[in-house]
Amino acid sequence: MKRNNLHIRALASALALGVVALGAAWGMADEPKLRGKKIKGVYIPHDYFRAKWHKIHFKPWIDKATNEQCLLCHKEILSHKPRKASPAGWKADSVLAWYQTLDTYEGPQMTFHARHLTSKYAKQVMNLKCNFCHQGNDPREEAPGSHADNQNDNTYTLRKTVDPSKTCLRCHGKFPYENMEGLEGDWSKIRQDFEDEDTPNGCLTCHEETYRTVRHQVTYLKPKNIEKLAKKSSDVCYGCHGGRRWYRISYPYPRHAWPGMKDVVPETPEWAKNRPTESEKRYRRK
Ligand code: HEC
Ligand code: HEC
Ligand code: HEC
Ligand code: HEC
Ligand code: HEC
Repeated sequence: MKRNNLHIRALASALALGVVALGAAWGMADEPKLRGKKIKGVYIPHDYFRAKWHKIHFKPWIDKATNEQCLLCHKEILSHKPRKASPAGWKADSVLAWYQTLDTYEGPQMTFHARHLTSKYAKQVMNLKCNFCHQGNDPREEAPGSHADNQNDNTYTLRKTVDPSKTCLRCHGKFPYENMEGLEGDWSKIRQDFEDEDTPNGCLTCHEETYRTVRHQVTYLKPKNIEKLAKKSSDVCYGCHGGRRWYRISYPYPRHAWPGMKDVVPETPEWAKNRPTESEKRYRRK
């Protein structure tokens, strides 16, 4: 009997510790006074599991959520700092990744989230929201097709909470030179044929007036600023179109009709036959 009691007490304190640790994990331990209240239109529950399964994580609610609402519980996502050195001792500032060599890259390593939402450059060229990438995932499911109930669910990728082909690929694909008449290889190899001191952006020799001039009219980009910054360097354009590539493929961009299109490309090229002719509706600028 006595032994049993001990067991129960040990279990109870383990549970209590567990709850404290979980509470800390969701950043709310700093601000327990938020709990049980409705803030910025979001009810902050008292317990961790209710917060984890909060409806704001799921469709249709996630589509309307603002960054401020998500950050009520996840502010650590922007304040985390990467390690100063790897566990084996490599100092972060002693190595340079290829994508850090772009002219537009500034400052020390930041975390993934901070780089996309708070770096000076990110804020100049884009306007990403939490729900641009997080479109609602079930925290219990890591693999699609794993049981009878989710056989037809192909809305997400194995062990990924966001779908890279609808998000990352847009700005981290391969430079699609095969689709560009007159270009023989990747920009990093051929750019010197197009650029000199007076022409710092070789992309614009073709894209200023001649080809695909209707572009970037989507809410998650800042089209005017992109063109303004691009006057100084093709790294602005190349950055999102091959210079920071994580994939072997390119994003299948929509192909908007542009003024003078019929004069330079009278017929739709083979590769463009199945392309949409407008940006995705949810992101179109009015
Ligand atoms: C009421 C507090 C609260 C709000 C508001 C909230 N979350 Fe969460 N979220 C949690 C908790 C708690 C967890 C579980 C954390 C864990 O397991 O590490 C979680 C987990 C997550 C995860 C990880 C899911 C997984 O499958 O591992 C993501 C991604 C996430 N939230 C994104 C968001 C986004 C985006 C928003 C805004 C649309 C948001 N959250 C709003 C509390 C909240
Ligand atoms: C550019 C795309 C993108 C944006 C924008 C974005 N996230 Fe994420 N987020 C990710 C990816 C990718 C992961 C890692 C997912 C995985 O492991 O499958 C992630 C992971 C998370 C996690 C899980 C914890 C962690 O550190 O891995 C939380 C919580 C989260 N994001 C919250 C947010 C919030 C809040 C915002 C808005 C302030 C936001 N995210 C904006 C892509 C994004
Ligand atoms: C709308 C365009 C866009 C989307 C979508 C996007 N990125 Fe990025 N990404 C950028 C830009 C721009 C930078 C460079 C920001 C800077 O230099 O400050 C960047 C930088 C990065 C870096 C370098 C981080 C660092 O600190 O050095 C990584 C890694 C990365 N992105 C991965 C991803 C992943 C993974 C996704 C999808 C979950 C994604 N990106 C979605 C535009 C995008
Ligand atoms: C020699 C002229 C030329 C140069 C230089 C050039 N492009 Fe292109 N680009 C084209 C042509 C031609 C097309 C296809 C037009 C069409 O849709 O018929 C194209 C299409 C594109 C597309 C859309 C591809 C698709 O699959 O829909 C992107 C993105 C693009 N260019 C970006 C760039 C960037 C970034 C640079 C500089 C790093 C650049 N281009 C330099 C001629 C050029
Ligand atoms: C911050 C990332 C980013 C930068 C910087 C950027 N692009 Fe893009 N570009 C995109 C994305 C994302 C799309 C797809 C938008 C959509 O779905 O309509 C796109 C689409 C395009 C297209 C297809 C146009 C069409 O028909 O809809 C062309 C061409 C293009 N970009 C060229 C350029 C050139 C030239 C520059 C420099 C002046 C540049 N991009 C700078 C992210 C970027």
